[in-house]
Amino acid sequence: MAREIFKNKEQIQRISTYIDGFDEHMQGGIPQGHIVLVTGVAGTMKSSLAFNILYHEATKGKVGVYLSLEQGYASLLNHFVNMNYDLDQINIMILSDISKINEAMSSIDQDKGGLLIIDLGTIRKQVGAMQISTGKDWLNLIKNIIRKSKEMGGCDHFCLDSLSALYVLADFQQARTKLFKLFEFLRDLQITSFLISEMPLTKDSYSEYGVEDYLADGIINLDLARRQRKVTREISIVKMRGTKCNHDVFSLEYSGKKFRAMYGGKIPLI
Ligand SMILES: Nc1ncnc2c1ncn2[C@@H]1O[C@H](COP(=O)(O)OP(=O)(O)OP(=O)(O)O)[C@@H](O)[C@H]1O
Ligand SMILES: [Mg+2]
Repeated sequence: MAREIFKNKEQIQRISTYIDGFDEHMQGGIPQGHIVLVTGVAGTMKSSLAFNILYHEATKGKVGVYLSLEQGYASLLNHFVNMNYDLDQINIMILSDISKINEAMSSIDQDKGGLLIIDLGTIRKQVGAMQISTGKDWLNLIKNIIRKSKEMGGCDHFCLDSLSALYVLADFQQARTKLFKLFEFLRDLQITSFLISEMPLTKDSYSEYGVEDYLADGIINLDLARRQRKVTREISIVKMRGTKCNHDVFSLEYSGKKFRAMYGGKIPLI
């Protein structure tokens, strides 16, 4: 599918990050159809940030698919309940039986929007039983899920939680070629995608193979900054294609059902 060339920049549709004080630093948000790496070390709220976007977009009638490879849906949803998300506000569906995928996709009400959580952690055990054993098939299975999400479910936004878990599952020999094809596949489908990527503790790369950084349209980095005994959450836009950004590091806070990015004296940065 060829990408549209806009006549002027106002026509570029952008998706809010739903982080107060952040969108204005990237011309209003993430361009629709971008593939964005959400990177950070463990516990930096990568999953929460992606869920936050899909949740708020679902309240506006958009369809999101959240594919979890590690964390089971109960653990994931309890985490969001603890963060005070009102899950009754959106049409939320859970799929943990791969044989019901077509049913789940066609049950999505594309006019009302919603969020489909696919718990591949559970599915992993089922496909194991179905003797899908090679890594190649895992990658194909995931691509099929994404394709169906778009074609049958009218998916607008997709989150893979996480790329790092996919590397463990699938055979990633010739990783550059496979990643190139995966990114092209997502790009062709024109789904805005959030790929969660665990960052090595050494923080010498945003992603495991390095190529993901180049292939992605955007990188949002989450971090924990330690100053003496005080630890602060931080967020920054490492890159966002087609967007004039402020690359400064912002403090990130979650309170009162909202993420907030702060800068300019509101929270001391040093
Ligand atoms: N109500 C809350 N308000 C603020 N922070 C919270 C709240 N509930 C949980 N947290 C924090 O959220 C963090 C985990 O968020 P999340 O699971 O999104 O991170 P992650 O980067 O995806 O983690 P992982 O590396 O384990 O996948 C925890 O450190 C936890 O303390
Ligand atoms: Mg996570």
